[in-house]
Amino acid sequence: MSKRVLLIIGGGIAAYKSLDLIRRLKETGAAVRVVMTDAAQRFVTPLAAGALVGERVFTDLFDQAQEFDVGHIRLARECDLIIVAPATADLMAKAAHGLANDLASAVLLATDKPVLMAPAMNPLMWSHTATRRNFETLSADGIRFIGPNAGEMAERGEAGVGRMAEPTEIRDAALALLSDGPLKGKRALVTAGPTIEAIDPVRFLSNRSSGKQGYAIAAALAELGAEVTLVSGPTNLPAPAGVKRVSVESAREMLAASEAALPLDVAVMVAAVADWRPKQAADEKLKKDKTGLPAIDLTENPDILATLSKPGKKRPKLMVGFAAETENVEEHARAKIAKKGCDWIVANDVSGDVMGGAENQVLLITKDGVQSWPRMAKEAVARKLAAEIAAALTAKAPGRK
Ligand code: C5P
Repeated sequence: MSKRVLLIIGGGIAAYKSLDLIRRLKETGAAVRVVMTDAAQRFVTPLAAGALVGERVFTDLFDQAQEFDVGHIRLARECDLIIVAPATADLMAKAAHGLANDLASAVLLATDKPVLMAPAMNPLMWSHTATRRNFETLSADGIRFIGPNAGEMAERGEAGVGRMAEPTEIRDAALALLSDGPLKGKRALVTAGPTIEAIDPVRFLSNRSSGKQGYAIAAALAELGAEVTLVSGPTNLPAPAGVKRVSVESAREMLAASEAALPLDVAVMVAAVADWRPKQAADEKLKKDKTGLPAIDLTENPDILATLSKPGKKRPKLMVGFAAETENVEEHARAKIAKKGCDWIVANDVSGDVMGGAENQVLLITKDGVQSWPRMAKEAVARKLAAEIAAALTAKAPGRK
C-alpha cells in the first residue's frame, strides 16, 4: 500500500518550496493531502497546491462542507505521517501549547501519527528563547524536526539559521520515518555528547565530546526504522531527522531521561559522561577574593550504562557501551563488558584525533568475538553498527521457528 502523507503548509515565504515538496513526495508514490493555514494562503494559493495533489486542499475548521467531507479528525488519522512545512514560529508555538483554534493546529492536536516539522523563520525568531522553549517542548513530545538550515534569508542582506530544509531533504526525512526498515517497531536509546556538572551558576566541569558519533548512530538507527530517543548533553548539532531528542546537562539528568525512555530494545551509550561532579554546586557565583583558592569536593556520578544493564525485566535486550582507550584497547574493553554488565562494547583508540574529529576507527567486541573495522567516517561507523544491531535484534533465537 502506498504511504499517505498529510502536508500542513504554514504561512511563510518558504511556502513556495512546499509546492515542490508535494511533487517530490508524489514522485515516491506517496498519496499527499494538503492543509493550508490562513497565512499560508497569503503566500501560495490552494488552487496551486490542489492542482499538484490532484484533490481539494483543506483550509477551514469551521467550513461545514469541508468538515462533513473529511473533517479534522479524519485528516489527523487517515495518514501515515504529517509534515509541517514551513513550520512557522507561530505554528510551533501553537502546537507546543496544544492550541487548536484553526484546522492545522486542530489536526496536530488530534493526531496519533508521527509528525515531522520543517521550521522556517527569520534567524532572530529561530534563536528567540520562546522558540527555543517551544522546540524543546515539541521535541520532548516526540515531534521530529528537519532543519532549519543556515543560509541567506528572503529578507535582503539577512543570513543565519532559519532557512527551511530543501524539499529533497524533507522528502528523505519523511521516507526515513515511513520506512519499513529492519528496526521498524523497535525502540532505541542513544546517549550522546558531554555532560556538564555545575560548580556554581556560571562554572562547570565538562569534556571535549562533540556528540558527532552518537548523533550519527541515532540517525542510522532511525534510517533503519527504529523509534529513536536521543538523550543529548550540550552540543552544537541539529537533531537528526526522525529522532526524538531530549536535551540534558548533567549525568543525573541524563540517567533520568534515559530511564524515562524505557522500555527499549537497544540502548547505545555513546555519551562522554563526566565521571565526577562537584558534591555541592554553589548557589551563588564563587568569589575570587574569598580566602585563597576554592576547594572543589568531587563525588562520583551514576553510571548510566551500568544502571541500565542491570539484569531485570526492564533491561533493554541489547546494551551497547563505548570505550575510549589509549592502550590495550581490546583487553580493557573486555574488562568493561564484565564491569558494566553490557553486551557489546565499541572500543576506540582515542590517542589520535578521534575526539571531535570526523573519522573513527573502532573494534566491535561482543560475546562472539571481535571485529576490527577500518578507519572510516563516523557516519559510516554508525551505519555499520546500526546494521549489526538490526541483525542481532532480528536474529531468531536458536531452536525457534
Ligand atoms: O567507564 P567509562 O567511562 O570508560 O565507560 C564508557 C561507557 O560507559 C560509555 O558507553 C559511556 O557512555 C558509559 N558511561 C555511562 N555513565 C557514566 C560513565 C560512562 O553511561 N557515568
